[in-house]
Amino acid sequence: MNSLVNIIILWFIIGVNCQMGRYGHTATLIDKKLYILGGNSNGKFNDTGKHFFYLDVSASFNTQELLWHNLSNINTVPSHDFAVSVKGGPKNNTLFLYGATKGYELATYMFTPQSNIWGVPITLFSTNHFTRQYSTSTIDYNGKMYLWGGQPSILFSNEIYILDTINLIWGSGNLVGAPAPRVDCRTVFLPNNKIVYIGGSNSSNYNFQLDQVYLYDTIQDNWSVQNTSGDIPTTRIGFSSILGLDGQRIIIFGGNKIDSTDALYVLNTTNFEWYVPKISGKLPESRYFHMANVIEKYMVVSFGISNVNSKLIDGEDAILLLDISNNDEYQWTTSFEVLPPPPTSSPPPPNNTNNTSPIIVAAVIGSLIGSLSIAVGCFLLYKSKQKRGVMLISGNENITSDRQPVTNGNLGQR
Ligand SMILES: *[C@@H]1O[C@H](CO)[C@@H](O)[C@H](O)[C@H]1NC(C)=O
Ligand SMILES: *[C@@H]1O[C@H](CO)[C@@H](O)[C@H](O)[C@H]1NC(C)=O
Ligand SMILES: *[C@@H]1O[C@H](CO)[C@@H](O)[C@H](O)[C@H]1NC(C)=O
Ligand SMILES: *[C@@H]1O[C@H](CO)[C@@H](O)[C@H](O)[C@H]1NC(C)=O
Ligand SMILES: *[C@@H]1O[C@H](CO)[C@@H](O)[C@H](O)[C@H]1NC(C)=O
Ligand SMILES: *[C@@H]1O[C@H](CO)[C@@H](O)[C@H](O)[C@H]1NC(C)=O
Ligand SMILES: *[C@@H]1O[C@H](CO)[C@@H](O)[C@H](O)[C@H]1NC(C)=O
Repeated sequence: MNSLVNIIILWFIIGVNCQMGRYGHTATLIDKKLYILGGNSNGKFNDTGKHFFYLDVSASFNTQELLWHNLSNINTVPSHDFAVSVKGGPKNNTLFLYGATKGYELATYMFTPQSNIWGVPITLFSTNHFTRQYSTSTIDYNGKMYLWGGQPSILFSNEIYILDTINLIWGSGNLVGAPAPRVDCRTVFLPNNKIVYIGGSNSSNYNFQLDQVYLYDTIQDNWSVQNTSGDIPTTRIGFSSILGLDGQRIIIFGGNKIDSTDALYVLNTTNFEWYVPKISGKLPESRYFHMANVIEKYMVVSFGISNVNSKLIDGEDAILLLDISNNDEYQWTTSFEVLPPPPTSSPPPPNNTNNTSPIIVAAVIGSLIGSLSIAVGCFLLYKSKQKRGVMLISGNENITSDRQPVTNGNLGQR
């Protein structure tokens, strides 16, 4: 029963929950804003993926008083959950979303926070028909997004697709030695340009063990399998993974039916030995299908489903903070401190949500035209219909935004 497929079915049956809580969302850090998009919030499929909001992490805050900024009215991405996202693009500040819900024609979307515009990247060698859920994504130092696994149909995939988010060109990676097809795998990009793949599931009753991880070398384009040792975690579905601040260890958290005392493990990426870190602070409720990002010195966990009562996690618990600055002892805390501390009366962030100045719009249109001209060149070069650039999704013309910060408890209530 401890499987992805069963869990999804279970949640469709459980049905309505009108809170803001969600699972299967994406969480992307861009310009000190943590963007939360999509996910399943109430079991009603048509509402899925419609929510889009962010948490300002430019200044200190406490998780007991979270201020969410509502951007749902500029969200033109179709309903989706279990998509993946990265921050990339020419300026390294564009949100790339991949893997909208099965059945939708377009697989990739991009959001430019500076102009609050969602679009569809027009790429060379489109793989739009590879639309899939439950895949994994990570981005390298050159703006290349690596997508692996997932479920494009009833079958599982182990193909690797690579989107150059700067030049908007799709490619694919080597399949030789790739792990068995699966969904819900976790991934971390290492400083040595290798991607680590951990866990996953391939059917209603098969979860992959964590005694082996797979490495994809993004430079050599080849795969290897790596046995792990030490205190190997039990199999788990819906956990999260991040790279520690020193770039030498992977921290995983949570998972379905995982007790809070068994939720946190560290994998030493030098010798691939697992260990349980020393932890202080109040142990949070264990959860699954949440997301985790590294922001400043914290592992920031967002939303998910509680292992205690199977409810969507919301309110004060929507964000968990694990201070990972001291490798000898991580600390759960509710206080996010920006170092060095800003003045207490810090001004509001410069680019407000509805501050779409004509200059920015002009710049966007300019770059659109620029991209289209490049695309025309490519059209001639490649004799294909593929163009690069951004295609606006209809609805973006009316860019307005709810400026009022909304408290967590209210957002999403209907
Ligand atoms: C969801 O939307 C589709 C088409 O937009 C519609 O056919 C379907 O009935 C809707 N489902 C629910 C549960 O509202
Ligand atoms: C984009 O920013 C991230 C840090 O947020 C950095 O690690 C990465 O190397 C940058 N990518 C490029 C292409 O500059
Ligand atoms: C899941 O993976 C295991 C181990 O590789 C394999 O034996 C099994 O056939 C796979 N099941 C499916 C449905 O792919
Ligand atoms: C990957 O390619 C490099 C360079 O060709 C080679 O040295 C290395 O052994 C290969 N690794 C595997 C696992 O095949
Ligand atoms: C990895 O573990 C498997 C058994 O799980 C074993 O057969 C294999 O030899 C190990 N590989 C290495 C390099 O130790
Ligand atoms: C990780 O492994 C390396 C190599 O064995 C070792 O030197 C280092 O102390 C290990 N780190 C931790 C935190 O165990
Ligand atoms: C967020 O914005 C959307 C779209 O404008 C709206 O439907 C929703 O009610 C808003 N949420 C809150 C809590 O204001």
